[in-house]
Amino acid sequence: MSVVYLNGDFIPKDEAKISPDDRGFLLGDGIYEVTPFYDGAPFCLDRHLARLERGLGWMRIRQPLDGLEEVQRRLIAQNGLDSADTSLVYVQITRGVAPRTHYFPTDPVEATVYAYAKAWERPSPERWSQGFTVATVPDRRWSRVDVKTICLLPNALAFQDAVEAGADDALLIRDGVAIEGAHMNFWGVFDGVVVTHPTTNHILPGITRGVVLDLAAADGIPVEKRPIQVEELGEAEELFFTGTTGEVRPCVRVDGTPVGDGGVGVITRRLSDLFRAEVEAVKDAARTPIAPVA
Ligand code: PDD
Repeated sequence: MSVVYLNGDFIPKDEAKISPDDRGFLLGDGIYEVTPFYDGAPFCLDRHLARLERGLGWMRIRQPLDGLEEVQRRLIAQNGLDSADTSLVYVQITRGVAPRTHYFPTDPVEATVYAYAKAWERPSPERWSQGFTVATVPDRRWSRVDVKTICLLPNALAFQDAVEAGADDALLIRDGVAIEGAHMNFWGVFDGVVVTHPTTNHILPGITRGVVLDLAAADGIPVEKRPIQVEELGEAEELFFTGTTGEVRPCVRVDGTPVGDGGVGVITRRLSDLFRAEVEAVKDAARTPIAPVA
């Protein structure tokens, strides 16, 4: 039985009870964050917490995040994930429990804070090297998807449409632009230049995306931030996605049409190698004991 965190307590998951009046349940009035851990060490935890803090501020949910780093580390430890290759902590914060109204509760209520940890699996190198397929699906999401709200119905419907079309994932299309995946950011390579959508209200500012941008810059790989038009997809040399549990994920077919030569591209592979090296560096740094100050 896994141990979860709910409103200050670490408890077995089957003892975690959330009120039917929780505004997350009734209205989707909440926000979430997913942070990857490698061998029990968090990856970019500060960036994930900063994104959560920004989202909470925008949603006007007053919930300080002090102690949330420790909660996440404890969940990893208490669930025996200290030496799991790849694991994650999911954190969800809702506005709290109050009789249902669309407006905020008039009497202040405590936010509901829920978190769990679990292992996830990377595709095998053989599977990764085959690449992944996508189906294009209309982006039916609202206009503030830069905030990681728990309202994921359009993402769930898009992913399901893609699965039913026989694809591995969905590619969301808004006003003729290939925006992002149902749970990952989207990238293309055109004439050797790596292209990804700028951070606007129409994409989630992915933490993995940010890391990959830094790695590309340090490696001298040219990058352009601009929308990728659907008509351009046929001209792309490479397409790929980035995300917490997807890392760098090659996309080799869109709606059944091969991308480039139909195989995983060299730039995608290079960025994936750089990303994995960065993960190893973070793991090593976490293992290195800090020398005591004399
Ligand atoms: N998904 N775009 C969307 C719509 C996402 O939901 C996510 C993350 C990303 C990638 O962001 P990051 O690199 O910070 O994981 C992009 C999370 C992991 C999820 O819903 O499970």
